[in-house]
Amino acid sequence: MNLLILETTCDETAAAVVTDRLEVLGSVVASQDPLHQRFGGVVPEIASRAHLERILPVIDETLRRAGIGLKDVGAVAVANTPGLAGSLLVGLVAAKAMCVALRKPLLAINHLQAHIYACRLASGEEVFPCVGLVVSGGHTSLYRCQGPLEFELLGATRDDAAGEAFDKVASLLGLPYPGGPSIQQAAAGGNPRAYRFPRAMTDEPDRLDFSFSGLKTAVRYAIAGPGRTDFSAIRLSAQQVADLAASFQEAVVDCLVSKAFAAVKCTGLGTLCVGGGVAANQRLRERLLEEAQGRGVRLVIAPPRLCTDNAVMGAIALERYKAGCFEPLDLDVIPGVVRK
Ligand code: KG4
Ligand code: ZN
Repeated sequence: MNLLILETTCDETAAAVVTDRLEVLGSVVASQDPLHQRFGGVVPEIASRAHLERILPVIDETLRRAGIGLKDVGAVAVANTPGLAGSLLVGLVAAKAMCVALRKPLLAINHLQAHIYACRLASGEEVFPCVGLVVSGGHTSLYRCQGPLEFELLGATRDDAAGEAFDKVASLLGLPYPGGPSIQQAAAGGNPRAYRFPRAMTDEPDRLDFSFSGLKTAVRYAIAGPGRTDFSAIRLSAQQVADLAASFQEAVVDCLVSKAFAAVKCTGLGTLCVGGGVAANQRLRERLLEEAQGRGVRLVIAPPRLCTDNAVMGAIALERYKAGCFEPLDLDVIPGVVRK
């Protein structure tokens, strides 16, 4: 059975064909980064309009790469939660139209759960039960994942997501969007101990929540001083930018590593799966690996191309297909986070 998967939750228009044996036949990700770059973040209206323009060419190209026609599609799956309402709608309407035209079943994908499932695809073997950490542009959440259909939210960010903090701090430092890769690159030449930034809630191991807004403000104060809003007169040297980037990145990584392993400890589970765009970060990957080896925990992180938004990870819908969990054609988008 060939599953056609659509992903339009934020600013990537993506499609993939994955078989029920988890073979990836074709995958396309059309990035909108250049459209949002000058705004320093995703502009929802621009994102949904761009999805509209791209969705059909992206599906056509995916089928072409997969070497199959529409008649060979056995079911259509779409990420309908969480995300930007207008963006989600484009994928959902396209998926429903295809299901009606092809007379095939519709399957729903929770985008955050799909980020964890990227680890299942990358490992090539079972990863459940596990602790799942999703670190993306819009979310920073810890789950107890009993199985591919059983996710329980253990904790989440109280304010900014980790990726959002990377994007906002990059903008403060005059680095291009998306901020994660720019900060990673700038940090390579910096000293992670040059500035001592806060690591919120790391002294409360029982609380599996995160907070990054205070860290972002601390970087702002380090650049401009408390209360200053006009940055126009401030000129940072390349070394200052590198030191600020490295110190900020280290603080985010400390928070993520400490809470991820606190969740492993409190659940007693032996596997940690990490997904989402920020999981592409090299320093985070190194630190998670060091810590996992030291504690005898099995760590699974997808390769960077499966960490940032893509449709392949939506293969989690095959688990719903196998369980007979099909959706009615009045399925709606749910922009906010579903707790289970
Ligand atoms: O999962 P994703 O592609 O989209 C959402 O679901 O949000 O995550 C995008 C986020 C952006 O905030 C981006 O700056 C961040 O992932 N990101 C990174 C890296 N690559 C992407 N953050 C840190 N280091 C990276 N190498
Ligand atoms: Zn994502």
